[in-house]
Amino acid sequence: MNVLFLNGPNLNLLGQREPEIYGNLKLSDIEDMVRNRAAELNIEVAFFQSNHEGELVNQIQQAASNYDYVVINAGAYTHTSIALNDAIIGSGINAIEIHLSNIHARESYRKQSMIAKACIGSINGFGASSYILGLEACMLNNNKSND
Ligand code: DQA
Repeated sequence: MNVLFLNGPNLNLLGQREPEIYGNLKLSDIEDMVRNRAAELNIEVAFFQSNHEGELVNQIQQAASNYDYVVINAGAYTHTSIALNDAIIGSGINAIEIHLSNIHARESYRKQSMIAKACIGSINGFGASSYILGLEACMLNNNKSND
């Protein structure tokens, strides 16, 4: 099984960006954590971050033929992007939505996710562990599909 982790705008600033909300780990630290867990689970992982909506759309479209799952932290595009929603639905990729923070416990404009309906499920509020839980969710969903 192989999984692509997609990160949207400003997630390249993790480590320095509002650490009281997003923690002290850099994106590269989180990627290392995911790589370690993926090795234990025998899952291949890849990572892509962009601040540009269209690049994320391109990645989602291409992922459909190359990956079993996309785990996506779309950052602020979560709350605005019909294009990401359409890309997930249109490409048919299995997607799982993740967030470091609990988006339901923050500003009201963060409560709505434009991509939630297109995703298998969502995980939010567990900090860097949301990424590990996202990986494990792929594995559990894949096992369920193969039952
Ligand atoms: C985020 C939550 C979003 O509302 C925010 O715009 C982000 C990060 C999270 O991981 O908690 O950039 O997706």
